[in-house]
Amino acid sequence: MSDSFYEHVFGVRGKVALVTGGTRGIGLMIAEGLVKAGARVYVSSRKQDACEQTQASLSEFGECIAIPGDVATIEGCQKLADQIAEREPHLNILVNNAGVTWSEDIDKFHEKAWDKVMDLDVKSPFFLTQKLLPLLRAGASPDNRASVVNVTSVNGLRPSNLRNYSYVAAKAGLGQLSVQMARDLLGDNINVNVMAPGLFKSKMTAPLFADEQMTKQVLAGQPMGRAGAMEDAAGLVIFFSSRAGSFLTGITVACDGGATSTR
Ligand SMILES: NC(=O)c1ccc[n+]([C@@H]2O[C@H](COP(=O)([O-])OP(=O)(O)OC[C@H]3O[C@@H](n4cnc5c(N)ncnc54)[C@H](OP(=O)(O)O)[C@@H]3O)[C@@H](O)[C@H]2O)c1
Repeated sequence: MSDSFYEHVFGVRGKVALVTGGTRGIGLMIAEGLVKAGARVYVSSRKQDACEQTQASLSEFGECIAIPGDVATIEGCQKLADQIAEREPHLNILVNNAGVTWSEDIDKFHEKAWDKVMDLDVKSPFFLTQKLLPLLRAGASPDNRASVVNVTSVNGLRPSNLRNYSYVAAKAGLGQLSVQMARDLLGDNINVNVMAPGLFKSKMTAPLFADEQMTKQVLAGQPMGRAGAMEDAAGLVIFFSSRAGSFLTGITVACDGGATSTR
């Protein structure tokens, strides 16, 4: 395969991307992959210092601009969209990755925990996409469709063994919401797809990797004997967002080493 054919099919060079929660965990993996593939990547998260650190470290590989902000509110979504619009005439790739989870016994599960998870995990992807539609439309054409990737979870596909009630509802809801958005944005040349991660090492899953013994046990329980890596998360987003994924919209891919399909 020639380099130019490879770049034509799988390339995202020169595309403009935004990754929410791009300062650590899966978001950072996606941002790193997109930067290394030649996209201009905006990352966003609440903490200013994490944003500065990410911008500095990823800028070694290419273009990364960090904008601090809270996307759990509609005002936060609007502010972030405005800040991108001040810098860019269009946006090609939006990865709604920022997410939070909460586990609590069913008898004690609190409304606060419900709302916190719902706000960030399902309301925010909808309203951030809504606020960014003018920029997504501006860069989209039949030959160069914009790509929205919503990050859900295998916990939104199958029952989880955790007591994360609002999380499973939010992630399943985001999956279905994505299909509806995909349908309604077809004519705008905007694809909406879903990555449902399985186990990845991050702050969210840190308790599972508390020590060597636990880590061994957790990984032994995974079908491929390992957690997801940067190439797994970033590779799927790049696939969705390149010419290779252009004919796909409204689909969910479980990025989980076979945890959903084989168990
Ligand atoms: N790790 C896994 O095994 C796994 C499995 C399935 C699904 N997922 C999903 O994958 C996504 C990433 O998870 P992760 O494990 O990488 O989580 P993580 O390590 O906790 O990272 C979350 C990221 O989101 C940012 N964030 C949190 N609240 C925010 C807000 N209100 N506004 C803007 N940014 C915010 C955080 O930065 P700040 O604190 O600076 O805001 C951080 O960059 C989530 O949607 C999660 O549900 C993860």
